[in-house]
Amino acid sequence: MNILKLLEDRVIKALMAAGAPEDTPTMVRQSARANFGDYQCNAVMAAAKKMGLKPRDLAQKVEENLDLEGIAEKTEIAGPGFINIYLKPEWLAAKLQEALKDDRTGVASVTTPETVVVDYSAPNVAKEMHIGHIRSTIIGDATARTLEFLGHKVIRQNHLGDWGTQFGMLIAHLEELEQDSQEAEAMELASMETFYKAAKKRFDDDEEFATKARKYVVELQSGNEHCLKLWKKLVDITLSHNQEVYERLNVSLTPSDVMGESAYNDSLPTIIKELDNKGLLSEDQGAKVVFLDEFKNKDGDPMGVIIKKSGGGFLYSTTDLAALRHRTHSLNADRVLYYVDARQGQHFNQIFTIARKVGFVNEDTRTEHHAFGMMLGKDGKPFKTRAGTTIKLVDLLDEAEERAARLIATKASDLSEEQKVKVIKAVAMGSVKYADLSKNRTSDYVFDWDTMLAFEGNTAPYLLYAYTRVKSIFRKAGVSESDLAGNILIEEPTERDLALKLNRFSETIEQAAREGTPHVLCSYLYDLSGAFMSFYENCPVNKEGVSDPVKNSRLQLCALTAHILKTGLDLMGIETVEQM
Ligand code: ARG
Repeated sequence: MNILKLLEDRVIKALMAAGAPEDTPTMVRQSARANFGDYQCNAVMAAAKKMGLKPRDLAQKVEENLDLEGIAEKTEIAGPGFINIYLKPEWLAAKLQEALKDDRTGVASVTTPETVVVDYSAPNVAKEMHIGHIRSTIIGDATARTLEFLGHKVIRQNHLGDWGTQFGMLIAHLEELEQDSQEAEAMELASMETFYKAAKKRFDDDEEFATKARKYVVELQSGNEHCLKLWKKLVDITLSHNQEVYERLNVSLTPSDVMGESAYNDSLPTIIKELDNKGLLSEDQGAKVVFLDEFKNKDGDPMGVIIKKSGGGFLYSTTDLAALRHRTHSLNADRVLYYVDARQGQHFNQIFTIARKVGFVNEDTRTEHHAFGMMLGKDGKPFKTRAGTTIKLVDLLDEAEERAARLIATKASDLSEEQKVKVIKAVAMGSVKYADLSKNRTSDYVFDWDTMLAFEGNTAPYLLYAYTRVKSIFRKAGVSESDLAGNILIEEPTERDLALKLNRFSETIEQAAREGTPHVLCSYLYDLSGAFMSFYENCPVNKEGVSDPVKNSRLQLCALTAHILKTGLDLMGIETVEQM
């Protein structure tokens, strides 16, 4: 049940009945404070101004027309013309009871599903996935899962960096290794970073090698089989390394989601032709360029985006145009989301603008760059190893597991070794993911082991622990969740607060899916856990003297809390444990 949407529907009707202009936004929000009600409508002030009325007079008219029979216990006009809405506890309880019977916890599927292409992860071949790709992978995956849960058709696209001039030196070096020694080859390829560096060194140090590398680029691009075979080997090894990381992190990408840059090779000449047909291409020092009036360079002239280099080579931009054309025309996307760091903002703005002009996207296709900031070390500088090199994702995950193991060892527990291993893995992977997901993606964020692995605050350990707490109540009560019956009774303030929060799951994930902002979901789950803890302190469940109907009601609140926590964490690919 999406309460926000329901209230918006009722408010717009009331606004219309009160004579407000048709385009008046409803501006219904969750109230920031309990004395402003549960929800607030802030639409009246602007509408009254347009209508030449006193805001409070219009507010009164809207309030009179606002039909919340059975839903709200009262409404009131506050300040200059806010309308505060107080929901009925019985109504909240009835909605919870519906949610409890539903395995989607009352979250409806969308009525008009969209096809959403999500471009995320996109690491580069022959390079180890490093922390620069972690944010894209983790945030993109959470959004893909959330959209899918809401009933949209999600097409994941892993835009692998598998093409470009660097492949000349890489395949030339691989060829040498193959000829020299199998052992050396296996060793270098085990770490793509080592392999890449060795190839680069050969290229820089040996002119003959460099010449061969340049020749191989051309041969590779013209489809030479020997070169393609070497190239394919590098792609496959990279993909299998990456797949291990995805699986470890419980990221839902599979090899079939890979649609690398090379996949668009054949369509690049068509891109040029279509741009040319629309009269968008100019010749500039031998290169083919699109000049955009929308973007000015430092001299105030229209900015040029190179589509084809003077030597004939295509660029990152050309491939992205081809990808967008494919996503619109072949994948029929209604929406295309890009999880790529903020520094590529201008690149995407240009691509989107060109694609619209040439018709590679339809008028109503939404193209959105969901940018994110950098991952910083505690010193506020880009996150690096002590030696100043970029941190490999695999090493980061290993360290997370070591730290989680130490953390869990400090807790008294009666878990078996096998259970402990599960807990450590859930805490480790959950913490790394959650630390990233819980921050507003647009800002840079400081990577800090101590805060992400703490049991207090908006962290994975806190949420995982809260979930196990709820589960333990059932074990103590000796009842199974499926046996619960009877009415939910909302009497205590903490019960009411928990009931309200539980009812907000739906509107929260809709917001997260709309904006591609998993941190909204994280804050919600954190608040929900907080509301649960207060409820549990004030409203005993298993204590003697609690009457059966009350116990039953409270157990139902517990059951729904557990179900929502688990569903919410699932949407981020974070695994829960039953005990810790
Ligand atoms: N491979 C690129 C990089 O590592 C990211 C690609 C993002 N996606 C895209 N369609 N350009 O920076």
